[in-house]
Order: sequence, then structure tokens, then C-alpha cells
Amino acid sequence: MAKIYINETNKLSHINPEIYGQFSEHLGRCIYEGLYVGEDSDIPNVNGMRTDVVDALKEIQVPILRWPGGCFADEYHWKDGIGPKEQRKKMINTHWGGVVEDNSFGTHEYFELCRQLGCKTYINGNVGSGTVQEMSEWVEYMTFNGLSPMANLRAANGQEKPWKVDIFGVGNESWGCGGNMRPTYYGDLYRRYQTYVRNYDQNAPIQKVACGPNVNDYEWTEKVLDTCFNPSPCHLHGFMDYLSLHYYTTPGPWEHKGSATEFTAEEWYNTLHKALYMEELVEKHGAIMDRYDPEKKIGLAVDEWGTWFDVEPGTNPGFLYQQNTMRDALVAAVTLNIFNKHSDRVKLACIAQMVNVLQAMILTDKEKMLLTPTYHVFHMYRSHQDAELVESRIEGVETEGGAMYEVPTLQESASVDPDGVLTLTVANLSLENSYPVEIFLEKPAPASVEASILADEKDAFNTFDEPDRVAERTFEGVTVTKQGLEFTIPACSVVSLRIR
Ligand code: AHR
Repeated sequence: MAKIYINETNKLSHINPEIYGQFSEHLGRCIYEGLYVGEDSDIPNVNGMRTDVVDALKEIQVPILRWPGGCFADEYHWKDGIGPKEQRKKMINTHWGGVVEDNSFGTHEYFELCRQLGCKTYINGNVGSGTVQEMSEWVEYMTFNGLSPMANLRAANGQEKPWKVDIFGVGNESWGCGGNMRPTYYGDLYRRYQTYVRNYDQNAPIQKVACGPNVNDYEWTEKVLDTCFNPSPCHLHGFMDYLSLHYYTTPGPWEHKGSATEFTAEEWYNTLHKALYMEELVEKHGAIMDRYDPEKKIGLAVDEWGTWFDVEPGTNPGFLYQQNTMRDALVAAVTLNIFNKHSDRVKLACIAQMVNVLQAMILTDKEKMLLTPTYHVFHMYRSHQDAELVESRIEGVETEGGAMYEVPTLQESASVDPDGVLTLTVANLSLENSYPVEIFLEKPAPASVEASILADEKDAFNTFDEPDRVAERTFEGVTVTKQGLEFTIPACSVVSLRIR
């Protein structure tokens, strides 16, 4: 019997809603077809945005959307994506599939999408192939309120009022596709570029993201912080509000990452073992950040994470289209539990990517769409957003996966929301074993519990013909006891409980 002890009166840190953020790049069918079909499409849309997709995304309460990339961001020239659509420049998307990018989705369309989703905005600027002037003018175009060349241009293009840019990324993967830079060189460039990301509205300052490390490149973290982090009365956060971290879960080597849907039990444990590595990354990069920033003024922004498998057979290799099974659901569940548990330092995270690319929430095929198992996990975890992480620990948990890919079978996190409702999310990583679980609460005998579950075969996934095979269902098996609760969690499942 596993025991989960929760002290719901011991609040540890605030879970920023932005930990549940999303990422949408001009890549494959994420933006075009997935989110944006254009005003003249037969697919129902509002100002070009797919109504079915937007409605589904609203249900998971998307808190923030990162755009336009990714690698694409460092090749994106924003002026190509404004003005009359028929006059917008057509270019080749050299990073992703070599297809024509007609720029019909640009700055105005992005803000319209965020308006429809009701989410915050996170724009990633171009350092790799763009100039300081270009970046600075983009910020002026989006946020200046008054008469100025860029604000006038915005008004001429139909947007009188400025928009709100919540977060601005200064370059993406500058150690790789964003310019192949070395950390101190990037650090100096960061200092320069970010100077011109002006705060025209002092009441709504733009938060800035410095490009952080790839996976376990601790030297990058150290050197970028050493170069850029300079708190002073004038620069409270030392020029930055976040340092990013990118980490993808791939079971195989880069050339053969493995199929998204056909995998062995060993590959199951391998994948989850690698997903759990996120905790070590967050802790080790966090320890370096602690030395520079012991007061935790800046956040770690894991603004690209998720599974990366071989593309679905027969699809464009540059489109990164993959199916999504219960394995993806478990990766999402354990990763979000890790972010919750480290919410003192992880302040922002964006899964890659929102629709039709990598570990997506939604897949589309022309007018059809389906919700993936990962979508359901985000739905089941949504009450953690803006809640307070509370103390929780598990005892009596077995491990599986052998010496190579050992994983704990159960993993959890718990939070209390502003209404005092406790949310507990538990993942069972075991492929074979269900476990009886006893929950011990500080204030026992809860008045009511609502529970839901996502459970299926390890490689189960939804198709356009059977879109609801894997779906969140009501979980009936929870009993209220004197000390808390009891239930049996099935193998290969995720459970979410709302305890009042
Ligand atoms: O998400 C796909 C790509 O992965 C992004 O464009 C890039 O930043 C990362 O390498």
C-alpha cells in the first residue's frame, strides 16, 4: 500500500499559471491549418482562427502562448507579416520543410488568437539574423501608445490601440539554430538587444527572457548569468526576468528517435526515465541560478519541452507531426508534477507544440480534429494554475524499468487554490501494476471529492475515426476515510482529485 502524506496547511510556493503555457511555431501544420485557416475557409472560423480548436483550447485555460518560434524566430522579419495580406512577402521556411511561408499569419493575427484564447502574450525576437533596430521597432509597433512612426504604421494597419506584450524572448537557442554563439558573446549581445526592448507603458513592463541552456549545458547557464545578471537599483532583475531551458524527451538517438505509437515496454520506461530527468535539470540549473539570484527574482522558463519521436510515416519530415499515446500523457503528467514541485524557480514553461507538431494538444486533418491524451492531462491539471503548492510526499513506492531505466511507479504533486480546494494529481508509471493508495490529510475527513482518470493501454491513442478512445473519465473508486482518502490507481494512468 502506497501512502501519500499531504500537509495542505504548509504552502510552499505559488504555481504560476504560465507553467502550463503553450508554444506555437511557424512549423508544419501548427499555425497554418492547425490554428489559422484564413477568413475565407469553409472550416468554421472567427477572423481566420479555427473555432473548434480555439474552443477546445479554452477548456484547458491556456495561460500564455509563445510565438513565432523556435528556430523560425531567428529568421523571422516581422515587417513581412503586416499590412494587406496579398502584398505580404512570400518566403521559404528553410528550417521546417522548405515550404512557402506566405506571412498571412503575422503580428495582428497572433494578438487576435491570444485575444480569442484569453491568454498572455510571449513574443520571441530575432537576434540570430535580425538587427537591434528591427527588434526595437517591433516592440514600438506593438506597444507604443501615441504618435510615432511604428505606432502610426500599426494604426494604418487597423490597430489603433497598442497591444500588451507580457513577455519578450531575446533570441532562441542562440547556442544552436539561433546563431551558434558562445555564451559570453550571446550574453553581451543580450545586454545590448534587451536595452532597446523599451517599456513604453511603465504600468505594464515587458518581462524579458534571456536564452538559456540546451539540456545540461551548465557552463552556458553559468556564463550567461555571469555576463548578464547584474541586479542594481536601476536593473532590479539584472536585465532579465527569466532564463530559458530547452529539453526534449527522445527515447532513441537523434537519427532514430523511435516511433510515437509502436514501442516496447523497455522503450516505455526509457522514455519516462528520460522525462524524469527534467527534475535533475531544473535542480542543477536552479542551483547555479541560486548563487547569482538567491532571492529568486528571476524564473527558469522551460519554454520548450515534450516528447520528440520520428514523424508519422508518410508525412513531411520537416513538419514534426507525431501521434500521441498514453506514454505522452504520462510524460506530461510527471513533467507538470515536477514543475509544480519546483514552482519556486520554474515560473514559465511551454510545451512544444500546441497543435499538429511534436507533443501536441490537438491534431487536425482538414475539417476534423481530435484531442490527444496530453490535452486531457492539461485539462486534469488545470486547477493547479495559480494555486499554492503544498507539502506532499509518497511512501512505499516501488520502482520498475530495471537498472537502466528505473522509475518510481507513483509520482504526485498537490496544491491549494484560492477557494481552498486541494488538487492532487497522481501518475502511475507502471505498465502492469495497479496500486492501492492511502491519502493522509492534515485536516482529515474531507467533505467531498471529485476525481477523474485517464487510463488505457500504453500505446493507445485517438484517431479521427475514434477520437474519444483515450479520454478523461469520472473516477468512481475514491473512498473518504477517517484520515483522508483511499483508492486504487490502475496501471498506466493519471488521476486528478479535487478535495474540499
Ligand atoms: O520545437 C521545435 C524546435 O526545437 C524549435 O524550433 C527549436 O527551438 C528547438 O530546437
